[in-house]
Amino acid sequence: MIITILIFPYYLLSNKHTSYIYVFLRPGTSVMVTLDSRKQYQTMFGFGGAFTDATGINILKLPEGAQDWFMKSYFSPEGIEYNLCRVPMAGSDFSTRPYSYDDVEGDVNLIHFNLTTEDYKYKLPFILRAQELAERELLLFGSPWSPPAWMKENGMFNGSGGLLDEMWQPWANYFVKYDDSKALFQNWMWNTCAWTAEDQRDWIKTNLGPTLEAASMRRLQLMVLDHNRDALPWYPATILEDPESNQFVDGVAIHWYDDDNTGPEVMNELHSLFEDKFVLYTESCDGWDAAPNERVILGDWYRAESYAANIIEDLNHWSTGWVDWNMALDTNGGPNWAHNFVDSPIIINEKSGEFYKQPMFYAMGHFSKFVAPGDRLISSAVSEGSEHVKVAAFRHNEDSTVILLNMGEDDETVSMDLGGGQEFINFVMPAKSLVTVLAATQPGAH
Ligand SMILES: *[C@@H]1O[C@H](CO)[C@@H](O)[C@H](O)[C@H]1NC(C)=O
Ligand SMILES: *[C@@H]1O[C@H](CO)[C@@H](O)[C@H](O)[C@H]1NC(C)=O
Repeated sequence: MIITILIFPYYLLSNKHTSYIYVFLRPGTSVMVTLDSRKQYQTMFGFGGAFTDATGINILKLPEGAQDWFMKSYFSPEGIEYNLCRVPMAGSDFSTRPYSYDDVEGDVNLIHFNLTTEDYKYKLPFILRAQELAERELLLFGSPWSPPAWMKENGMFNGSGGLLDEMWQPWANYFVKYDDSKALFQNWMWNTCAWTAEDQRDWIKTNLGPTLEAASMRRLQLMVLDHNRDALPWYPATILEDPESNQFVDGVAIHWYDDDNTGPEVMNELHSLFEDKFVLYTESCDGWDAAPNERVILGDWYRAESYAANIIEDLNHWSTGWVDWNMALDTNGGPNWAHNFVDSPIIINEKSGEFYKQPMFYAMGHFSKFVAPGDRLISSAVSEGSEHVKVAAFRHNEDSTVILLNMGEDDETVSMDLGGGQEFINFVMPAKSLVTVLAATQPGAH
């Protein structure tokens, strides 16, 4: 078999810097990575970030040329080719005020439902531009932070209020209105809506599901949860064990904020209970629990490493992709009306008219650029004693894409068994590095 191997160190994402290496008939001596493309798992949807108000506000602070380069960096073939993005339905905490699409008290028929200035200024122009730039189909999903405050028990966007009983149907209708125009326990500081799993199940089966069906919106896919691993598998299971609500649900959305406390096995549990439902990581960001002056850290490798390690872990536990949070924030990690500042793969410096691609941007790029939508995850394993090397491998037609992360302090000689112990790729992975290997079968090879 003749193969072309392209290796991309984390800081180089351009084809100009590919290196070709040889295939050996015996392994090197250090870390063994074994691939088995006969064992195939979930199909990838893709990777991306969120079109928050904060993202748009920050992009607009740049000079026009830099705005264009920003958009190309994320979406065009010259950039890291995001294809799967989240759009908050109305405001999130990363807005300059809390709002919904109908803030007219008691408007249960949603007569005053309307998109807002924020949509027209900060979201839609950039979504349209991304669609123009992307070669891949851009997939979008919406998620609401809170229903209108007047639909809720506490009459506020934040806090811990749930939906009022008589608002279950208006809130389902709100989703239809949103499409026409184009979760839980604590006292949240920002826009949120309390849902017990039982209520969410019943609302899906009696209101949202039938309402989407009546509006011929079943072409849309519905994800439940949109919250942390600690709710797995019980929260989605409560919804999915009911055959009536199950039929309306396509997938389960997960956030990374509890991953240090809850291991990835709960994702396997969820998958084994509901094999026909997909799993997708829909929000993650770093700096959310850091000291106030470390919400944004420029040039931090460790945050890139956490991204890469988490993505590899999630993809190896059924996630069909990974969607980052804000695509751009300012140097303080905002704006955010609830002062919930965090880091972002791109930080915008309004004063100098510059933007900074953080190491996290390149970590995202290894996955978003080189793992194509439709690729299948395949089995990969690292030899015992080398747990600081993480790997995720994918099948793309006849080719393999392998992403490796060396979290260790030493360079490692990696020997990658391409299958069956017959052919090996041996290469050195620098300490603290992320590497993508594309092993392409040449036409006519055997
Ligand atoms: C909807 O909102 C937009 C933007 O704020 C505004 O221009 C428009 O007049 C509104 N339409 C209605 C029917 O209120
Ligand atoms: C909710 O938001 C209001 C401002 O609209 C703020 O005064 C209040 O402190 C927030 N509640 C919590 C629990 O943070």
